[in-house]
Amino acid sequence: MTIHEGNPVQQRLIGPRSVSAIGLGGMPMSIEGRPDTERSVATIHAALDAGVTLIDTADAYHRDAHDVGHNEELIAEALRSYGGDTSHVLVATKGGHVRPGDGSWTLDGRPEHLQAAAKASAQRLGVDAIGLYQFHRPDPKVPYADSVGAVRDLLDAGVIQLAGISNATVEQIDLANDILGGRLVSVQNQFSPTFTSSLSELDHCAELGIAFLPWSPLGGIGRTASVAESHPAFRRIAEERGVSLQQVILAWELSLAPVVIPIPGSSRPASITDSLRAADLELTADDLTSLSSATTTTEQEQQ
Ligand SMILES: NC(=O)c1ccc[n+]([C@@H]2O[C@H](COP(=O)([O-])OP(=O)(O)OC[C@H]3O[C@@H](n4cnc5c(N)ncnc54)[C@H](OP(=O)(O)O)[C@@H]3O)[C@@H](O)[C@H]2O)c1
Repeated sequence: MTIHEGNPVQQRLIGPRSVSAIGLGGMPMSIEGRPDTERSVATIHAALDAGVTLIDTADAYHRDAHDVGHNEELIAEALRSYGGDTSHVLVATKGGHVRPGDGSWTLDGRPEHLQAAAKASAQRLGVDAIGLYQFHRPDPKVPYADSVGAVRDLLDAGVIQLAGISNATVEQIDLANDILGGRLVSVQNQFSPTFTSSLSELDHCAELGIAFLPWSPLGGIGRTASVAESHPAFRRIAEERGVSLQQVILAWELSLAPVVIPIPGSSRPASITDSLRAADLELTADDLTSLSSATTTTEQEQQ
């Protein structure tokens, strides 16, 4: 078991794989505004040192059409250059989004695209089989069943070891799980104190025992401060406990169900090592009531 500051890091399950309760989101290290490679590799190494065993990436995490797969290559390089054993680290990538190079994110959920994209991702990651492959986002031009059918075929062919989906509704979760023959292991949806619309998908995953990975769990790159403004209870509890606002947000998410595994994005070693401490932060029942009622109130006010 991995040790973090003398304590075992809390583990959670993605299918049969045990991973740290907090993962590392790779996106800020590869899109616009990314740091240099040295700082990114230091960030990934710091995460591994601290006991992070889940790293989330995507073939679309790059800056322009000339560096497709930048984040996957970065993670592969950081794992190769890390001094210790990384065989227990689960790298979760995604396919189905395309970035043509003008800053936009477009969709390609055609089975032939997903087949080729997964094989290219495996090559960039330097693996025979991808640990977890997630269909990034439904493509309205392609029947959902066809896209997920391609993921099932990748699973059956051994190109990927585990299958997940992202940006899915409750109905799509059920459809995907059906198409995959009950082998859906994860759902990655946007979820944070300022974006709780995926609560029904989170609850559904908890009922089915499927891992739920909140993306932008801190409100998104450069937007965490807005969580403190709109939800002062998070700031108050952080101050009372002498911990970061980010730790309180992530600990609240972890408290919602045992299937929740947030993947905060980081581009600095200090961010991910601080975030991982959320796995050790025990919030009281009173804390959780004030935090959950804070988010509910805001949602109701916004409607
Ligand atoms: N499936 C999808 O459609 C989808 C969409 C978006 C994102 N994602 C995934 O979800 C991950 C997380 O989302 P995100 O990166 O958009 O947003 P986020 O995790 O809400 O916020 C990331 C930002 O928070 C900062 N941060 C993280 N931990 C911190 C800490 N303890 N203290 C202070 N600052 C901290 C980071 O700063 P520094 O950069 O300075 O370290 C980073 O820029 C992404 O990296 C990506 O892997 C998936």
